This record gives sequence, structure tokens and C-alpha cells, in this order.
Amino acid sequence: MRDFDEHSITDAVIDRFKDTPDPRLKQVIGSLVHHLHDFVRDVEPTFDEWLAALMFLTRTGQMCSDTRQEFILLSDVFGVSMLVDAINHRQPEGATETTVLGPFFVEGAPVYPNGADIMAKDVPGERVWVEAQITDAAGAPLPGAQVDVWQSDGDGFYDVQRPELTEASLRGRFFSDAAGMVKFWSITPLYYPIPYDGPVGDLLKATKRHPYRPAHLHFMTVAEGYETLVTHVFVQGDPYLDSDAVFGVKTSLIDEFPLQPPGLAPDGRRMEKPWRRLNYRFGLKGAGPQDT
Ligand code: BEZ
Ligand code: FE
Repeated sequence: MRDFDEHSITDAVIDRFKDTPDPRLKQVIGSLVHHLHDFVRDVEPTFDEWLAALMFLTRTGQMCSDTRQEFILLSDVFGVSMLVDAINHRQPEGATETTVLGPFFVEGAPVYPNGADIMAKDVPGERVWVEAQITDAAGAPLPGAQVDVWQSDGDGFYDVQRPELTEASLRGRFFSDAAGMVKFWSITPLYYPIPYDGPVGDLLKATKRHPYRPAHLHFMTVAEGYETLVTHVFVQGDPYLDSDAVFGVKTSLIDEFPLQPPGLAPDGRRMEKPWRRLNYRFGLKGAGPQDT
């Protein structure tokens, strides 16, 4: 086959992949070629524009390292990460909604007993006492669930973004008690920018988009017989709840963090300054085929 024009070339390319043994790979490539060619026909790029696009993707790859994944960030700001999440997490009634994992989860966070303080070193911020209940979708408590929590500090940085920090801060692993509860002290999170010193930041600047994520605490919960739940709890009243740079906000994940006066906290700690409180239930979806 030869003499392709700007329309016939699409089927010719798809046909060239006809012997792909893996049916899923064949389907994905066929769809990719179809949409990519339609995109080019729609946009009609000049050679300079196409080269600029390829150089942008080149810079995105070059920005990646062991600690920076610029392609995931690109997928995040285009809403693709949340689209993939939505397709893969059609939650049943009673199960908590999911959102992006983000780049700042670290395997092997310190394991803490219930009631611990995850602030390793003094960081600015209002103290918060968190009570999280882990249940199944029907609300029955799940003891022994593994719960990772992580968040940024009062300046908007995660510990892994601070090279001077030698130990984990504002992250930890807990196990739920007999009542399915996990409790800990932390600081009330604040909004912060996603990393924007690379090509994804250039894209945001060129399109007049801000890089901010509304304040949130990350939670990842693992329990045998249930789907792993990756989610956040967002702070009610945050100015970026309706313009999250990565489209991750769901109304059901927003909570009040009500302000408490100085005095005795629930664990007996005497608080000199006002503090906040979060009480949130995480409902896990069963992992069995019947648990739709
Ligand atoms: C985060 O919440 O940590 C995050 C998520 C997506 C992109 C950047 C940061
Ligand atoms: Fe985050």
C-alpha cells in the first residue's frame, strides 16, 4: 500500500499493527492512532508547532528522576489521572470516594502507635487531632487496617521536598484498633502549589492557570479482603476547593476541621492554643466480585 493521503493514512497505520498478538495492546494502539490522527487533522500543526510539542515532551521526560515524575504531573493537570481514577473506582454506596495518590507518598513511613504525633520537628501550623474510623461499606468497623497518612507542612512542602530533613515528618503508618479507629496529632494542612519549576509549570503559566491544591490530608488504607483506598480529606473553606490544579476534589471528601478552644484535648493533652479536630469515617469497598 502506498500513496496515502491525509485521510487514508489512518487506516493504513492501524492495519500495519494487525498482527499484534495481544488483543488489548492491539485495541489500545488502534484507538491511539485513530485519536492521534484525528487530533492532528483537527489542529493542523505547522512543523514548528509539532517540533515544539515534541520538545515539550522531551523536556518532560528529562525532568523525571527518582524523586520527580513530571509525566504523572502532566497527566494530573490534564485531569487524566482523575479520569482513570473515576473509571477504576466506581464506588458502591457507603464506600469512600477516591482521589489522586500524588507524587509524595513514600513506602516505609515510620510506624506509630495510635495517638502519636506525626510532627517529627516543630513546624509552623495549627495543631489538629485526627480521629479516623475504618469501616466496610456498610459501616462495620475494620480492626487491624493499615493506614498511611501524609501531608505538607505549613510552608506547603512535603518532607521529601526538604533535603535538610533527615527523618520523616508529617507522615506515618498506623493500624486501626478494635473499634477500627486510628488517632493522631498533626498540623492543620494548608493549600500548596504542585511542583511548577518544570515543563508542567511552564504549561500552567502559558495558560494562566494557578498551580495550587486545596489543603488536604492524604490517607491510604489497606485491609485484607478490601480494595486499597487512596484518598484525601480536604479542609472546608479552602480558597482552592473549586479550582484544584489536579481536579481531585470531591464534595464528600471535604470536612470541617472545627476550631477548639485551648484546654484539655481528647487524649488528655493540655492545649495552650486553639486547635482543630477532624473526625472522618473511611468506608472500604470489598475486593470480591460480588462487591460492586
Ligand atoms: C499531592 O496531593 O500531593 C499532589 C497530587 C498531584 C500532583 C501533585 C501533588
Ligand atoms: Fe498532597
